[in-house]
Amino acid sequence: MKQQEIKIIYEEYENISELQETDQELLIKAVEISDKAYAPYSDYHVGAAILLGNGKIITGNNQENVAYPSGLCAERVAIYYASSQYPEEEILAIAITANAKNFSIKVPVAPCGACRQVLAEYETRQQNNIRLLLMSQTGKIQIIKSVKDVLPLMFHAEELKKR
Ligand code: THU
Repeated sequence: MKQQEIKIIYEEYENISELQETDQELLIKAVEISDKAYAPYSDYHVGAAILLGNGKIITGNNQENVAYPSGLCAERVAIYYASSQYPEEEILAIAITANAKNFSIKVPVAPCGACRQVLAEYETRQQNNIRLLLMSQTGKIQIIKSVKDVLPLMFHAEELKKR
């Protein structure tokens, strides 16, 4: 038996003003779009902003449904739109944040497991990292250099691909 260890390194900031300008802009776009979320059931409004290689920023927010599982997270709304409109463009970064009606979100908002899996697919496809910029409602930020850092031991199945 061998014990293995998985370690990730990420950056933490107390305030958005400490970031480079393009990262600040991306996070602000995520905040802005979170206000337009359709989240009448959870009152938890998530915003995601994606920076593409051509400099375009694509945004998305969570879209809920009375049949709960039919809704979709902000990250997937944004990345599916980005990939459908700009399939050739590299995805450089995704900024994620949220605001809740009834409480203050004190820790940076991280993508759910299903969104991590979806983001990882695009990272693998483009063979380049997608940076994650996660921000809380109180302003604290975490920056992670790759989706795979937050999805260790991820599902790989090269053999599923058609030849
Ligand atoms: N949600 C997201 O949009 N992204 C995540 O990564 C986690 C959760 C949404 C789904 C639902 O509309 C609300 O937040 C509460 O779970």
